[in-house]
Amino acid sequence: MVSFAILFLSLLAALVYGQNGNSSEIATINITGNAFFNSKTGDRFYIRGVDYQPGGSSNLTDPLADVETCKRDIPVFQDLGINTIRVYTVDNSLDHAECMQMLQDAGIYLILDVNTPEASISRYDPACSYNADYLQSIFATVDVFAQYDNLLGFFAGNEVINMANNTFTATYVKAVVRDLKKYIRARNYREIPVGYSAADIESNRLLAAEYFNCGNDSDARIDMFGVNDYSWCGQSSFQTSGYSQKMKLYNGYSIPIFLSEFGCNQVSGSRPFQEIGSIYSTQMSSVFSGGLVYEYSNETNNYGLVQIDSPTEVTKLDDFNNLKNQYSQHPDPTGSGGYSTSNNHSTCPDYQAGVWEANNTLPEMPSAASAFFKSGAGAPMGTGFTTQQQCDSDGIDSIDNSSSDSSTITSSSSADASSTDSTSSTLSSSTSSATSSATSSSSTSSSSSSKSKGSGAVLEIPRGLQMIAQLFTMII
Ligand SMILES: *[C@@H]1O[C@H](CO)[C@@H](O)[C@H](O)[C@H]1NC(C)=O
Ligand SMILES: *[C@@H]1O[C@H](CO)[C@@H](O)[C@H](O)[C@H]1NC(C)=O
Ligand SMILES: *[C@@H]1O[C@H](CO)[C@@H](O)[C@H](O)[C@H]1NC(C)=O
Ligand SMILES: *[C@@H]1O[C@H](CO)[C@@H](O)[C@H](O)[C@H]1NC(C)=O
Ligand SMILES: *[C@@H]1O[C@H](CO)[C@@H](O)[C@H](O)[C@H]1NC(C)=O
Ligand SMILES: *[C@@H]1O[C@H](CO)[C@@H](O)[C@H](O)[C@H]1NC(C)=O
Ligand SMILES: *[C@@H]1O[C@H](CO)[C@@H](O)[C@H](O)[C@H]1NC(C)=O
Ligand SMILES: *[C@@H]1O[C@H](CO)[C@@H](O)[C@H](O)[C@H]1NC(C)=O
Ligand SMILES: *[C@@H]1O[C@H](CO)[C@@H](O)[C@H](O)[C@H]1NC(C)=O
Repeated sequence: MVSFAILFLSLLAALVYGQNGNSSEIATINITGNAFFNSKTGDRFYIRGVDYQPGGSSNLTDPLADVETCKRDIPVFQDLGINTIRVYTVDNSLDHAECMQMLQDAGIYLILDVNTPEASISRYDPACSYNADYLQSIFATVDVFAQYDNLLGFFAGNEVINMANNTFTATYVKAVVRDLKKYIRARNYREIPVGYSAADIESNRLLAAEYFNCGNDSDARIDMFGVNDYSWCGQSSFQTSGYSQKMKLYNGYSIPIFLSEFGCNQVSGSRPFQEIGSIYSTQMSSVFSGGLVYEYSNETNNYGLVQIDSPTEVTKLDDFNNLKNQYSQHPDPTGSGGYSTSNNHSTCPDYQAGVWEANNTLPEMPSAASAFFKSGAGAPMGTGFTTQQQCDSDGIDSIDNSSSDSSTITSSSSADASSTDSTSSTLSSSTSSATSSATSSSSTSSSSSSKSKGSGAVLEIPRGLQMIAQLFTMII
């Protein structure tokens, strides 16, 4: 009798948990042509998201490993009405199950950058940073996150090419794309999209888009392209902001494009987010698939939607209310939104000295990394695993303990204007808050300028200031 009751109760519990517990399901997002689709309903999927890294670069923490943080923020995401977040850095050695489940229960997808400040492709010394330990770090991150159906995709890099003089580094970023895609297949994970998030640099924005989506090797081509674009500022319009020109520029691109960062803050008062009305309309839906607003939490660079008050509380700012209001007024376009399956991948751009210097022949994967394809990446090493400065005399592929002298790493990676994951937009923003007179004229302050905040500011920041900013802001 007692055992009967226990059986009954456990059956009941299984039922209840099956419906409301962590075994609830969410459809994966797949790609057809230049658009995302819900793989169950077949409906087109538009990214309605925010960039999420509370603490920013000055206090780098993994928000998806902290359940208290997730309990604080995920209900706020739901109130805002978003379906996606982008996280720039996680610690792959921590447990993400509970936060990922909470996101899934809220119907929210994740786009994850695989790099960390210490494990990323160096902007000016990419060959050295492209080594087997680096690949171990990012493959281990794939191992951790591939299991989650609400993982929308990975970014292989963020604004690694951020100036006219480091376009050659795209060669290595593209090699990383190739390695990630091959690894995902070798490990029998589902076809998780791999993309690149680009700085919006006038001289090479189209070249970069083409380069990452060109060539006969489909493994080396990205599956989705993110653009960090700050050209719509305040009260502007589809024409004035330059969005209409971007539509023409990227027309015919064969894979999904979205705004991986947007939300110019060169406005007085709060941001009105009128661009939502264009992004989620047929004005743009034939080429763009939504975007992510930069950024959730208010950090020193002043882009926040909320102010974080404590580990359990946030205050919603005017930006939050404006954005929420815009989202609710502008649902996704109905039907297919004019997406296309007939575009071909791009033609590889030619080498142009000083403009586009990436090589169409990619470097081979460091040989020591092939072991990961057979048996997995092994134990995740977390954010403290420094791989960027490992340059062995015989190549790039062995684990060289002697090179991990931390003082060398710190000084040279900052001098390197590194790499990381992060966003030159943040770099520029944090620099500009520290040195407003030096950068205010280079920042986009008028709504008629089509120059991005990110690239515009970065190009004119003196190198010394960048180095200082780099020391303080490793990411974001
Ligand atoms: C539920 O979540 C726990 C940890 O959060 C995990 O160990 C377990 O495998 C999950 N169960 C299912 C069915 O996903
Ligand atoms: C994506 O999912 C949709 C809806 O289930 C399906 O029609 C389509 O074939 C899928 N595409 C790919 C590439 O798997
Ligand atoms: C950094 O973030 C952690 C975790 O959110 C928090 O406990 C700590 O107070 C923060 N430190 C600073 C200096 O803000
Ligand atoms: C792709 O293949 C075609 C035909 O085999 C060849 O002409 C072309 O050069 C190749 N392109 C690249 C970028 O390898
Ligand atoms: C955001 O944070 C910055 C830096 O701490 C601060 O100056 C600014 O007032 C904050 N913005 C809002 C709207 O609270
Ligand atoms: C794509 O390539 C095929 C084969 O080369 C060609 O017939 C077709 O016109 C191309 N489509 C577009 C949109 O350029
Ligand atoms: C392009 O890469 C290949 C292979 O890594 C190399 O042999 C060649 O020299 C490179 N070309 C240029 C112009 O850098
Ligand atoms: C290098 O470090 C690894 C991992 O800590 C260790 O297994 C290996 O023995 C070390 N090699 C040398 C030469 O010190
Ligand atoms: C790249 O260009 C920037 C801006 O013009 C300049 O400050 C920097 O020194 C250059 N770096 C290299 C390695 O040439």
